[in-house]
Amino acid sequence: MELRKIGFSKSTYSEIIFSVRLKERVNAAPMGVLLHDEEKVCLKIYKGGKTYDMILNGAEDCVLNITRDPVLFYKAVFEKDKIAYHPAKHVSSPRISGCNAYVECSITNVTLHEKYIEAVLKPLLIDVADASVKTYNRAGPAIIEALICYTKLPYVKDTQEEKVEALTKKMLIFRDIVYHSTKNSMLRRIASKMLEEPSAASKQKPVKHPT
Ligand SMILES: Cc1cc2nc3c(=O)[nH]c(=O)nc-3n(C[C@H](O)[C@H](O)[C@H](O)COP(=O)(O)O)c2cc1C
Repeated sequence: MELRKIGFSKSTYSEIIFSVRLKERVNAAPMGVLLHDEEKVCLKIYKGGKTYDMILNGAEDCVLNITRDPVLFYKAVFEKDKIAYHPAKHVSSPRISGCNAYVECSITNVTLHEKYIEAVLKPLLIDVADASVKTYNRAGPAIIEALICYTKLPYVKDTQEEKVEALTKKMLIFRDIVYHSTKNSMLRRIASKMLEEPSAASKQKPVKHPT
């Protein structure tokens, strides 16, 4: 299934840039999206933002712009006016230029909650630049960062207590990120295991850490 092939999952949030049009208004913002069923995706949009307003006021379609470019994510928060758009093929909302894949969607269902709305989207067109394109998710990078901390522990454990504390604190934060961004039990187990087994780190050979 195409959505799964490009990284969308029921258990792990895909971080994408959501572009939407309502009449002459266009907006973009980073959002986390889950597979809803095999043919739809869903997202929670918290109160107070432009995306929330535009969907609540009747926006009918959107584009999930897939990129791993941190500068584009930055622009979608801080410099929205510097984002370059081009027309989509099946929807009125525009695509963000420079992304690796586009999922053009109609907004099929919106449920109002106290602090957010939940929107269900039906993909109408999935346009992928090449077969290797995958959505960005937070769990993988957080695990790799935690492993970097873990493998630094042997070099400081005997002499620098404050560095051990700092590394452990970071690993706790990375574990939190994993738990917030995925329900995948293997990824969660990996993130927890590192903190449960500090003794394993001390068995590593203390040669100079490469990073
Ligand atoms: C990677 C990333 C993912 C995000 N996911 C969500 C989300 O799922 N729902 C949400 O309401 N805000 C999310 N945000 C926060 C919004 O993007 C942020 O509040 C943005 O400024 C809203 O812009 P807007 O006012 O143009 O809608 C996310 C931010 C980032 C950086």
